[in-house]
Amino acid sequence: AVVVHRKMKKSGRWVKAMEIVKEFEEKCGTPIWKLRQVADAMTVEMHAGLASEGGSKLKMLISYVDNLPTGNEKGLFYALDLGGTNFRVLRVQLGGKGSGIVNQQFKEVSIPPSLMTGTSDALFDYIAVELAKFVAQEGTDFQLTPGRQRELGFTFSFPVMQTSISSGSLLRWTKGFSIDDTVGQDVVAELTKAMERQGLDMRVSALVNDTVGTLAGGRYTNSDVAAAVILGTGSNAAYVERAHAIPKWHGLLPKSEEMVINMEWGNFRSSHLPLTEYDHALDAESLNPGEQIYEKIISGMYLGEIVRRVLLRMAEEAAFFGDIVPPKLKVPFVLRTPVMSAMHQDTSPDLKVVANKLKDTLEISNTSVKMRKVIVELCNIVATRGARLSAAGILGILKKTGRDTVKVGEKQRTVIAMDGGLYEHYAEFRKCLENTLSELLGEEVSESIVVEHSNDGSGIGAALLAASHSQYVEMEES
Ligand code: GLC
Repeated sequence: AVVVHRKMKKSGRWVKAMEIVKEFEEKCGTPIWKLRQVADAMTVEMHAGLASEGGSKLKMLISYVDNLPTGNEKGLFYALDLGGTNFRVLRVQLGGKGSGIVNQQFKEVSIPPSLMTGTSDALFDYIAVELAKFVAQEGTDFQLTPGRQRELGFTFSFPVMQTSISSGSLLRWTKGFSIDDTVGQDVVAELTKAMERQGLDMRVSALVNDTVGTLAGGRYTNSDVAAAVILGTGSNAAYVERAHAIPKWHGLLPKSEEMVINMEWGNFRSSHLPLTEYDHALDAESLNPGEQIYEKIISGMYLGEIVRRVLLRMAEEAAFFGDIVPPKLKVPFVLRTPVMSAMHQDTSPDLKVVANKLKDTLEISNTSVKMRKVIVELCNIVATRGARLSAAGILGILKKTGRDTVKVGEKQRTVIAMDGGLYEHYAEFRKCLENTLSELLGEEVSESIVVEHSNDGSGIGAALLAASHSQYVEMEES
C-alpha cells in the first residue's frame, strides 16, 4: 500500500508539473495573427515616437547620422564599443575608395560586474585605461596622417538623447547597468574627461548606438542594407527613415533627406504581447521595473532567467526535482541563456548535455530522460516566443518603410544587418526567427528580403562614422 501511495503521489506531481508547463505554453502562444497585431502595433508606435518627443514608449531617437558610409572613408580610426558585459576597442586603417579596410586590430575586455553598478568615473576610468594601453600598442602597420589627432567612434549601446553626431546625454541605463550619476550626463564628455585623466589625446568624433553602428558597418559592404537589429544581451533596431517623415525633427533638412533612427525597440510594450506571470515577476524584480518589456521577453539577458523561473515554480509546486527545491534554482540569473541554448539544442542520446548542464549550473543530478525532455521543451517555448516576436518587430519596420510588399516592376532588395550573441550563437532561435519572418512576408516578398549577419559591424561602423565626421573634413574626398 505504501508503494502504491508513493507511486500515485509521484504521478500526481508529474501531472501538476505538466499542467504548469502546459499553461505556460498556452500563455506564450504566438499564432501568426497575433504576430501581425504586434507588427502593426510596432508600426503605430513608430509613427507616434517620430511625431513628438515622448509621444510613445518607442523613443525613436534621432542619431544625427544622415549619411551612411560610402567606401571613400580613409585613414586610421579607433572605436570603442561599450554595451554589454564586455567592451571592445579597435583600430582600423581605412584605405579609401575601393580599398576598404586595409588593416584592423581589436581587443576585448570584460567589465567587472561591480563597475556596472558603481560610479560613472570608475567605469569611464577603467575604459580609458584599457583604451590608452591599446593605443600605446599601435605599431607601424597603422598610419595616422602626420599632425593629426587620433579620432574615435564611440559605440555606446544605451538610450541616448543626442544633441549632435558627437554628443548626447544618457536617458537611462538598460541591461545590467545601473549607475545613477551618469544619467543625464553627456557620455562623450564623461569619456573625454576620463581620457584626459589618462593623458590620452583623442577626440570622439561620433557617438553611436550599436544598432546604428551595425547599420553603418553593414552599409559599407552592402548598399541594400536598410535596417539593423541587435539580438544580444539586449535587443534593439535602427533603420533609415525619410527626414520628411520625422515631424519632431526641427533641424535642417539633411542633403540626403534621410536620417537613421535608433528605435530603442526594447522598450516597446503592447497589450498584444503574450506576457505571463513569470514575465511580470521578472520585470518587477529587475533593475528597471516597467521598462524594456519587449527586451525582457526576447533578449539574451532574460531568456534563461525566464526558464529558471518556470522550473522553480515546478520545483516548488509540483516537486519536479523531488522533495526539496534545489537551492541553486532560487538564485536569479544563474541559468544563463548560453546554457539554455546548449540544453535546447542537445542532440545526444539520453540528453547528456541537459543532464550535465543541470548538474554544473544548478547542482541538480539524477534527472530522468523524461524530465530532461520537459526541460528542453521549456527552452523551446521561451526561445520560440522570443524569436517569433523579434520577427514581428522586423515586420513592423518593413511595414513602416513600405518594404513589406513587392511593387510591380520594381526589384527592391532589402538587407537587414543583424548582430548579437543571441542571434549568432543560438541556432534554434535564429532559424525560428528567419522562418517566422518568411512566413509573415509570404514567399514572393521574402525572396527580396535578406537577413545578414554583420559580424562585429557596430565597432567598425563607429570607426567609419568617426571617419566621415572627422574634424579634418576637407578630407580625402576623391
Ligand atoms: C538595449 C539598449 C540599446 C541597445 C540594445 C542592444 O536595448 O537600450 O541601446 O541597442 O540593448 O545592445
